[in-house]
Amino acid sequence: MGKLLCIQTFGCQMNKLDSRLVADALLADGCELTDDEKAADVILYNTCSVRKHAEERVFSRLGVLKRLKAERPEVVIGVIGCMAQRAPDEIIRRAPHVDIICGPQDLPNLPAILADYEPGRGCFVATGGSEEWPESLRDACRSPVSAFVSVMRGCNRFCSYCIVPYVRGRARSRLLEDIATEVRQLVDAGAREITLLGQDVNAYTDEKGRRLWHVLAELAQVDGLRRLRFVTSHPATVERELFETMARYGVICPYLHLPAQSGANRVLEAMNRGYTRGRYLEIIREARVIVLGLEVASDFIVGFPGETDREYHMTVDLMWQARFQNCFIFKYSPRPGTKASKMDDDVPLEKKRKRNAGLLSIQKEIMEERHKELEGESFEVFVQGVSKRDKGKLTGRTRTNRIVVFEGDESLAGRFVEVAIDSSTPLTLFGHIEEDAS
Ligand code: SAH
Ligand code: SF4
Ligand code: F3S
Repeated sequence: MGKLLCIQTFGCQMNKLDSRLVADALLADGCELTDDEKAADVILYNTCSVRKHAEERVFSRLGVLKRLKAERPEVVIGVIGCMAQRAPDEIIRRAPHVDIICGPQDLPNLPAILADYEPGRGCFVATGGSEEWPESLRDACRSPVSAFVSVMRGCNRFCSYCIVPYVRGRARSRLLEDIATEVRQLVDAGAREITLLGQDVNAYTDEKGRRLWHVLAELAQVDGLRRLRFVTSHPATVERELFETMARYGVICPYLHLPAQSGANRVLEAMNRGYTRGRYLEIIREARVIVLGLEVASDFIVGFPGETDREYHMTVDLMWQARFQNCFIFKYSPRPGTKASKMDDDVPLEKKRKRNAGLLSIQKEIMEERHKELEGESFEVFVQGVSKRDKGKLTGRTRTNRIVVFEGDESLAGRFVEVAIDSSTPLTLFGHIEEDAS
C-alpha cells in the first residue's frame, strides 16, 4: 500500500501485542510506521474498555483528530480493539469522522479492510469475526529483545465486573508446538526475555491437554532465552505443578502476577472470583515455599457495589499480610452488560478515591520497607535503555520485575548486568554496575 501508518495503543499487554501484529501485517503490505499523527495516512487507535476512564481517553483523543480529518479528509481513522467491539454505535455517534471500526477478533482482516476502503462510503464496521491471529506470520526480526507471545486468547471466567469475556470472546489456547516455534524464532532473532500472555493464563489447555507448566518446561529448554515470564494468573486456576515447574527451571522468573481484587469474602463472592481470602493467602504461602525468592504482585478494585468500611479494611489487612512486590489499584467502574452493572454502584466517588489513595499509601510503605531491605544486595538486571526520568542514567528490571536505575553506557541496552543496590525509593532501586553479565 505504501502508506504511512500511526498506531496508538491503549490498554493491556495483549493490546500491545496486537498492535505489534497489526503493524507487522501492514508493514508486510508495504506500509511504513510513523509516530506523527499529522503525517500519517492511516491512524489506528487500539483501544481498551476495561474502565469508563479508558474509553473516555480515547474519545477525547478522537475529538482532537476531528480537525485533522477536516483538513485532510483522505486520512483513514480506525478504532480497533476492545472498545471497537463493545461500543461501535457509540463511536459512530460521538466520533462520526471515524472510518473503520474493527474488534479484536476481526483484526486479521484489517489489512484487507484497509486495502478495500474507499473514503466517503461511511464507517466500515467489523465486529462479528472469530478469526484467529496467524501469530506464526509475525515478523520475528522486528520484535524487541523483550517480546510478548500470546498462549491463549479470550476468557471464560466472567468475573462479575469485567468486560473482557464480552469483548475478547471465549478462551482459546494455542498448540504448544506453535508457541515453541514462535519463541524459538524470536530468540533466534535476538529476543532474550519472553512474556507469555493470557487473560487467565493458567487456564491454558491445548487440544492435546497440555497445561501452562508444560509450555514453560518446553520453553525453558530454548537456547539463548534468559528470562521467561507469564501473566496474568488467576487464583482459582493456579496449580502446584506450576510452582514446581517455576522452581525447577532457572530461566522462569520467580514472579507471579496474581490479582486478589479484594480481601473480603462477601466481595470476592459477588465478584464471582471463585476463591476466598483464606485460600488466596494459602496459595501465596505455598508458592513462596516452593519457589525460592518468589515475588507476588496484585490488582485490587476499591468501591465494588456494597463494599463497606469493614470490607475495605479486610483488603487493607490482606495487603499487610501479603507484602506484594507491586499493586495496581482501580476504582470500580460499572461496565455495561456485566453482572455487576446491574448492582447498585453505591460507593460514592469520593469514598472510592479515599480508598484508592489509602491502598496506594500502604503499598508505598510496604515497598519502601522492602527496598530498604534490598540495599546492599546485588541483582542481575536486564538493561532496557536510558532512564526517562534521568537521561544520564540507565534503567532495567530485576528478575522479580523491580525497577533499577544506575550509571552506564547506552550501548548496554538489551544486555544483562550485575547491579549492587546503594539506595532506594518506594518505586525504584538505585545502584552501580558490578559486572557485565551478558
Ligand atoms: N485478565 C487479567 C486482567 C483483567 S483487567 C486478570 O484477570 O487479572 C486488569 C485489572 O483491571 C483487573 O485485574 C481488575 O483489577 C481491573 N478491572 C477490571 N474490570 C474493572 C472494572 N469494571 N472496574 C475497575 N477495575 C476493573
Ligand atoms: Fe476479567 Fe476475570 Fe477474565 Fe481477568 S479473569 S479477564 S478479571 S473475567
Ligand atoms: Fe482493556 Fe481489552 Fe486488555 S478491555 S485490559 S485492552 S483485553
